Amino acid sequence: MYGRGSVGGPFTLTDQAGKQRSDTDFRGKLMIVYFGYTYCPDVCPTDLMAITQALDALGSAAEGVQPIFITIDPERDTNLLADYVSAFHHSFVGLTGPAEEIRKVANSYKAFYVKVPDERSGNYSIDHAGVIYLMGRNGEYLGFMPPRTNPDRLTEVLRKNLAN
Ligand code: NI
Repeated sequence: MYGRGSVGGPFTLTDQAGKQRSDTDFRGKLMIVYFGYTYCPDVCPTDLMAITQALDALGSAAEGVQPIFITIDPERDTNLLADYVSAFHHSFVGLTGPAEEIRKVANSYKAFYVKVPDERSGNYSIDHAGVIYLMGRNGEYLGFMPPRTNPDRLTEVLRKNLAN
């Protein structure tokens, strides 16, 4: 875990059940924040699965951690979000909202992404970093873990921060 500095900021977005959720709703818990999209072929599912395994490994201590998936592809993902996050840890909150609002939140996390059109299919993919952000109980930035961090390492980092 490294990369201290000014990362993160307030958000109010819509969860997979259609409910408005703000960062302040999760005060008192560690927050894992992940920006991705449901059509992501490999990095997102791998990381979300690693987060899921880490939370499973924590057992009841996982109640002190709120995992949050924010879609960077609201136009395609909004209706898919509930199904998508249900494939991972039960405590996952999936968030969507207006594209410009999501962009603003992502920028505050320095989570940059860009649409890459696929000429052949007429579809697109999104280049994005897949960074796993860890925020503290008061919403403060604790650090980030790179994409493809293994579940054991994630568990260790979470356990350490839960003990603080
Ligand atoms: Ni991805």
